[in-house]
Amino acid sequence: MKGYDVEGPALDLGALVRDDTADPHEEIKIPLRMMNRHGLVAGATGTGKTRTLQLLAEQLSAQGVPVFLADMKGDLSGLASPGTPSERVTRRAAEVGQEWAPVSCPTEFFSLGGVGEGVPLRATMSAFGPTLLSRVLGLNETQESSLGLIFYFADRNGLPLLDLKDLVAVIRYLIDTPEALSGIGGLSSATAGVILRALVNFQAQGAEAFFGEPEFDVHDLLRTTPDGRGVVSILELPGVQDRPQLFSTFLMWLLADLFEVLPEVGDPDRPALVFFFDEAHLLFEDASRAFLKAIVQTVRLIRSKGVGVFFVTQTPKDLPADVLAQLGARVQHALRAFTPQDAKALKATVSTFPSSGYDLERLLTELGIGDAVVTVLSESGAPTPVAWTRLRAPGTLMTPSGAAVIQGVMAASSLPAKYGRAIDRESAYEILAARLAQQEPAAPERPEPSRRPAGKRAEERPAERGRREPESVIEGVLGSKEFRSFARSAASALGREITRSIFGTARRRRG
Ligand SMILES: Nc1ncnc2c1ncn2[C@@H]1O[C@H](COP(=O)(O)OP(=O)(O)OP(=O)(O)O)[C@@H](O)[C@H]1O
Ligand SMILES: [Mg+2]
Repeated sequence: MKGYDVEGPALDLGALVRDDTADPHEEIKIPLRMMNRHGLVAGATGTGKTRTLQLLAEQLSAQGVPVFLADMKGDLSGLASPGTPSERVTRRAAEVGQEWAPVSCPTEFFSLGGVGEGVPLRATMSAFGPTLLSRVLGLNETQESSLGLIFYFADRNGLPLLDLKDLVAVIRYLIDTPEALSGIGGLSSATAGVILRALVNFQAQGAEAFFGEPEFDVHDLLRTTPDGRGVVSILELPGVQDRPQLFSTFLMWLLADLFEVLPEVGDPDRPALVFFFDEAHLLFEDASRAFLKAIVQTVRLIRSKGVGVFFVTQTPKDLPADVLAQLGARVQHALRAFTPQDAKALKATVSTFPSSGYDLERLLTELGIGDAVVTVLSESGAPTPVAWTRLRAPGTLMTPSGAAVIQGVMAASSLPAKYGRAIDRESAYEILAARLAQQEPAAPERPEPSRRPAGKRAEERPAERGRREPESVIEGVLGSKEFRSFARSAASALGREITRSIFGTARRRRG
């Protein structure tokens, strides 16, 4: 089909279909150099989205491009194992002119905070930052900006926020120390209390495991094997329905972090990484305007760092228009039209496609499993015509890899040595606990700052006031309007080796 001829390296999606018959000579491809122009894989349940993702991932890997994907249903670990031939696969291969052969990809398995089998993935609290954390905690805008002030306070006062208990300790300290709290300005003890409760709940759900050190270095997602294949990093996220916000926000952190650390490369011949964002609707549901804006900006800017982002979800309508407009490749599997709501979503989906010779409203409901309506960017960057495509069969296993394969991957990996064990350096929690112990030599040792009401404590220990010079010195400055807006904006902290990302997260510069 016109527009799909590619001279350079490309990914083979499949063959053009006419009257339900695939023409093996009409190949539908995506130029490799357009894979940083983002994409969408959409369709109703069971229509072939995951297999399409698998197909893209294994071809990227074979062509030397590292891939990251989040596995929400446990059905992507098959990428580590060669596929098994079957009558169905052979028939599909013949239809689309594919020489099917079993392949397996070099893989690395990750898990969030070590909950699961893979290499534990953690972020420090300060790198995760107030914006993403607010999203996870379900805070409103006022609470979010208050959390920003708390992070700023900690940063300015030499209280590193590495894990969850560091942040809890700082907030308890602020609630217990009215001078410090009022010094911040714009942070009420009531709001601090709300944030603290949300955090303590979060902690009780076992969230401590996701935050702290060693922090994951996203460069580890950009590896190739000695024989030039891209490593496929699979983040196992079982039970996503229990924690949709945490999981999707964590993926966003990875993406934001990639954006921070990668150099500008313009439009490279091949992407540095392709990042598949499965169940993408979770990211956008109930997202605040600020959060949405940050996502849109990250997606827009990360392209020139050579990272392609592919969203996977049921309908394009799950994504905000600003994001959808940036997606160069579209692989739309079948949609259902059972309910009036389905019909509306179908119409909306059709409206996002350029006009074509197809009756898309009909075609999209009649597509077979593993067929899709496709439009991509040609080598020159122009959108290709809409093409009804029969996708190739993946060469990797279409069911989960066996336990032995996963254990083998883990055993061969160098990453467990680097990330396997959590470390707990001195940070805000320890510093504040030590300070308190010093101030109260008579008191029995306590693991963390007091939870007693602030007023009472101030009465009990009036002598304490003079000792808090770090806060009182900067009190006036912190309270000023300039500093508050500074804290909320993406500016860098004074004199510290810290940069702030699009999400307002602080990160220590590496190297
Ligand atoms: N390209 C393909 N080649 C061969 N078989 C396919 C292909 N695409 C889909 N299938 C078959 O259809 C089944 C369902 O596909 P898949 O798991 O990709 O659906 P899905 O859209 O990801 O569903 P869900 O929304 O439930 O995750 C596969 O298990 C496979 O048997
Ligand atoms: Mg799926």
